Amino acid sequence: MQTKVADPFLTILEAGARIRRGELVAFPTETVYGLGADATNESAVKSIYLAKGRPSTNPLIVHVPEIADARKFVTALTSAAETLAKHFWPGPLTMVLPRGAGLTPVVSAGRDTVAIRCPKHKVADALLRTSERPIAAPSANRSGFTSPTTAQHVLAELDGRIPLILDGGACAVGLESTVIDMTVSPPMILRPGAITREMIQELIGPVNTFHGSVSVEVAAASPGLLSRHYAPRTPAFRFTRAQWESVRDKALRSTDMLILLSHDPSISLAAPHETLLLPPDAAGYAKAFYSALREADERHGSSIYVLSPDNESEGLWAAVADRLRRATVVI
Ligand code: TXA
Ligand code: MG
Repeated sequence: MQTKVADPFLTILEAGARIRRGELVAFPTETVYGLGADATNESAVKSIYLAKGRPSTNPLIVHVPEIADARKFVTALTSAAETLAKHFWPGPLTMVLPRGAGLTPVVSAGRDTVAIRCPKHKVADALLRTSERPIAAPSANRSGFTSPTTAQHVLAELDGRIPLILDGGACAVGLESTVIDMTVSPPMILRPGAITREMIQELIGPVNTFHGSVSVEVAAASPGLLSRHYAPRTPAFRFTRAQWESVRDKALRSTDMLILLSHDPSISLAAPHETLLLPPDAAGYAKAFYSALREADERHGSSIYVLSPDNESEGLWAAVADRLRRATVVI
């Protein structure tokens, strides 16, 4: 299969028609690129799993253009869910809700819940409206690897496996949406993202955050919870500022090329090693992170070392730290 990378403004009608025919279309959202299929079509949704190499037990996020569409596919929106939808949609928040009628159960991988979000991106919105379908879309990468934030990243992951990629440039947020389970009380954040715990609690009161990672079996519920996820192909390690001396000493002794990802210019390595500098602020870091991991992978060093953020629990840094923990191991 030939994979076409296309200008969305010239191709949106074709893309909508492909979704309606049950084909896969990769498209940009404000978070990362998604691999979309008609969420009402069982065989279309099954082909997402095939293209990604994703275990069939892992459920998908269903994208809709408006709150009203979300209401169609759930049994009920609680008032807390209504409040979050009104404040944060369109935007990078996914809510796990009791599944109603109309969607293929394959999106839920056998569960009685469905994850729904309304993306904030004009191309995603145009695709949802022209196809007139809810669109199931995981991140458009091979299962377990780094999520794509550009059309070129999608092509690198899925060339020959899907017919069409809509090129909408680089994603503004750069990390996947916050996933919150609204079927439990209090609600539980399953995956941190740009809609932070603080922002959610301000509106609906206390919520729990899922900490740690789970086994492959348990992760059937939420694959982003796997201890190793979002990972580059090169062995990748993380270290704290306090461990910099030992990383530098190791680099000085090493004849292999190490790739350093740092967001502090005073923490860098000279040749034969390479340093990729990330922005020091959380939003800038989040946006650049997956691209930097891919670039680090492409340098073909013997290993990748990433300086951990100092503030791992606050706001968007919590989401960055979560992805970093799953993409790397401690030194
Ligand atoms: O930002 C995003 O959310 C992107 C863009 C394309 O919208 N999508 C995305 O999808 O990251 P994916 O499949 O890579 O991650 C979806 C996460 C997984 O951790 C999955 O387990 C969880 O949402 N999830 C989906 N349905 C669920 C459900 N019914 N219950 C619990 N977790 C669910
Ligand atoms: Mg993913």
